[in-house]
Amino acid sequence: MNTIIKTTDAINVNKDIINEAGAIIKRGGLVAFPTETVYGLGANGMDEEAAAKIYAAKGRPSDNPLILHISDIGMLEDIVSEIPENARLLMDKFWPGPMTLVFKKKPGVPYGTTGGLDTVAVRYPAHNVALEIISAAGTPIAAPSANTSGRPSPTKASHVIEDMDGKIDMIVDGGEVGIGIESTIIDVTSEIPMILRPGYITKGMVEELIGQVQVDKVVIAKSIEEIGGDYKPKAPGMKYRHYAPKAELTMYEGDIENVVKKINSLSEIAVTEGKKVGIIATEETKNRYNASKVVSIGTRKDEASIAKGLYGILRDFDTMDVDVIYSETFYDDDLGQAIMNRLIKAAGYRIETV
Ligand code: TXA
Ligand code: MG
Repeated sequence: MNTIIKTTDAINVNKDIINEAGAIIKRGGLVAFPTETVYGLGANGMDEEAAAKIYAAKGRPSDNPLILHISDIGMLEDIVSEIPENARLLMDKFWPGPMTLVFKKKPGVPYGTTGGLDTVAVRYPAHNVALEIISAAGTPIAAPSANTSGRPSPTKASHVIEDMDGKIDMIVDGGEVGIGIESTIIDVTSEIPMILRPGYITKGMVEELIGQVQVDKVVIAKSIEEIGGDYKPKAPGMKYRHYAPKAELTMYEGDIENVVKKINSLSEIAVTEGKKVGIIATEETKNRYNASKVVSIGTRKDEASIAKGLYGILRDFDTMDVDVIYSETFYDDDLGQAIMNRLIKAAGYRIETV
């Protein structure tokens, strides 16, 4: 398939490009577009056959449900059977924005988009290109992150091209995204809402608004044992190894002096074994490592910069063809919880205390 690639300004969107993208979605095709979190791979969410093409293009397991993206609150009526009070509070405060809510679905939403579940995840993104494409398509758009299943989510169009060129109808390049990690997912069908995936909207922000909130244990677990072998994450996607670079990634946690020492000594050994080493450092530590591929993920003073750089760095290590990656850890509160959640999964739970 020949993939059309078009570039538009993210604020003053090019209407011709939007109309072309909308028409492709309407006729059951696939279009990748930017949102404020990561790039999404969109199809008509009310059309099971169109949604099936998403699974094929990504190589995604069919029990992993898709998020429906809307461009105005009115669109909720056709897809959601009930809006609990807590959901209203969250919607008023954080929509449009990087938050996905899980509701009970209406019968019209096909099981082909919800992975067979009776619930549906809905997101109202805060990005002009996404909003205009949804409006032009005139239907909720089902959109997972626009990466091949298991690879880091795309934060720029070039990442989407790497994974999807030739497999989808169109890629709309609207520049680099602002946030860089996927939306916070909150299940509002239970009396006390539950965070299923952490993101830019933090537990603290949700608690401040609605009081109590639970967190699915897969979000914070630092080992497979903590989760328990039979436990099924409430967001089916959280069970898959995800966000993974090609090289084996291990994280080292503890006093930063010890971490730097440990990573330096491991790199020396790896280099003598003929391995190419990548290190995920911070602005604060990047000059203290002696391996050749030291990449700074941002400064500890600004967690948002770390979130934004994360997936690009994991992809860069693939391009540099490193054999092993060593990483520092980050605080696991606020936005740090989302960063650590993604990194721990990228590391396949290889995390050591030093
Ligand atoms: O920021 C985002 O949310 C991005 C952009 C493109 O909007 N999208 C995204 O989609 O991250 P995806 O498909 O990569 O991740 C969706 C997650 C998966 O873990 C999936 O299992 C979960 O949402 N999910 C979808 N529907 C659900 C439902 N009804 N109940 C529980 N989890 C659900
Ligand atoms: Mg994804």
